[in-house]
Amino acid sequence: MLCVALLTTLSLLSAANAATPTYSATYLPSSIPEHTEEGQTGTNQCGTVLNQTSACQTAYMNALDDWCLWAPPEPGPLSTIGETERIEVAWCIKSGTGSRLIPDGAITGAHWLITPDYIQVTGVGNMTLLNIPIDDEGGELDPHGADGNGNPVGGVVFSTAFGGQVEEIFEWTNFMGTGEFCFRICDPKGPRAPDFCQHIYDTLGCDFNMPANYNTGFDTCHADSGEPMGVYGTSTFHQGDPITPDPHPAPSPTNCQTTSTIGNGFLIQGSSIVGTPSATPTSGGPSATKPSGSVTATNSSNSASGGPLVQGWERVLMSVGLMIVLSLVGAAIVI
Ligand SMILES: *[C@@H]1O[C@H](CO)[C@@H](O)[C@H](O)[C@H]1NC(C)=O
Ligand SMILES: *[C@@H]1O[C@H](CO)[C@@H](O)[C@H](O)[C@H]1NC(C)=O
Ligand SMILES: *[C@@H]1O[C@H](CO)[C@@H](O)[C@H](O)[C@H]1NC(C)=O
Repeated sequence: MLCVALLTTLSLLSAANAATPTYSATYLPSSIPEHTEEGQTGTNQCGTVLNQTSACQTAYMNALDDWCLWAPPEPGPLSTIGETERIEVAWCIKSGTGSRLIPDGAITGAHWLITPDYIQVTGVGNMTLLNIPIDDEGGELDPHGADGNGNPVGGVVFSTAFGGQVEEIFEWTNFMGTGEFCFRICDPKGPRAPDFCQHIYDTLGCDFNMPANYNTGFDTCHADSGEPMGVYGTSTFHQGDPITPDPHPAPSPTNCQTTSTIGNGFLIQGSSIVGTPSATPTSGGPSATKPSGSVTATNSSNSASGGPLVQGWERVLMSVGLMIVLSLVGAAIVI
């Protein structure tokens, strides 16, 4: 919640400190260090192995079938977003990024919206499956925590969504609640990225910050950027002002492409993976009228649009690794 100028100052100061990255540090998945910020609890070198207790803090926002959310590493009543914002880990729709998988069925609605300045995913689901306590009022994650580190500390976001090349996203904001989520990334080349990914309205939730589609169902749409959150013509609202204005109207979606489901095909119980896509061809959402659902899952786990460094032979290695892990688990059970 610091202004950008102050952040920049902090970053310049911390640039003197060799181990601390700067606001302008540009990482790629291939070059990212194990840790990007001091005090980080997880890792940015996440590998590709599927691991439901992964401490991966690198998130991707690539497409409707390939995105992540920040959520608590452990379940329990003390895992509210507010209490765990410094230590959240990445939970992703698609396998192959070394992060945890969002269990199929947890997300019942997701709406990928492409605008000139930002891309976002908004939707609904059962976030208790991502360790968020049932009575949590929710909270906001962004790369600008009070001490200049991110929430989570060391959280890095990459995307191929702005033009196809994977790049680090410096401005992003993600609200997480028990039943709703929204995650916006701003085009690093956009002139108003900090405004469109403003993070100072952190108690006002998705509805204020990202007015959009929060219904069930899955689609990709385009829209105008609309106005930045909190900006109303020439006046700017600040959280805590006596009167909170209405949210902006949601920009009208156009050119929508609808799909019946998204997912990865893995069957997950708690922190265990109890079935693989081929073994569980019909696993999926509660709205599991998905005769072709497994096709989506298969395409999704094989699609070339995925984790940018996780393609071709790396996917094969990953599969082999997963098979080894699963057979070790199997062996352990037999023993
Ligand atoms: C999964 O991630 C956790 C946390 O980083 C780590 O302790 C564990 O060894 C990992 N398991 C595998 C199979 O990689
Ligand atoms: C959410 O998931 C939890 C854990 O599986 C389950 O107990 C609960 O009933 C689900 N809530 C809804 C609204 O589906
Ligand atoms: C999935 O792959 C099949 C076969 O290659 C193709 O016909 C289908 O259109 C693909 N579906 C999606 C959603 O990409």
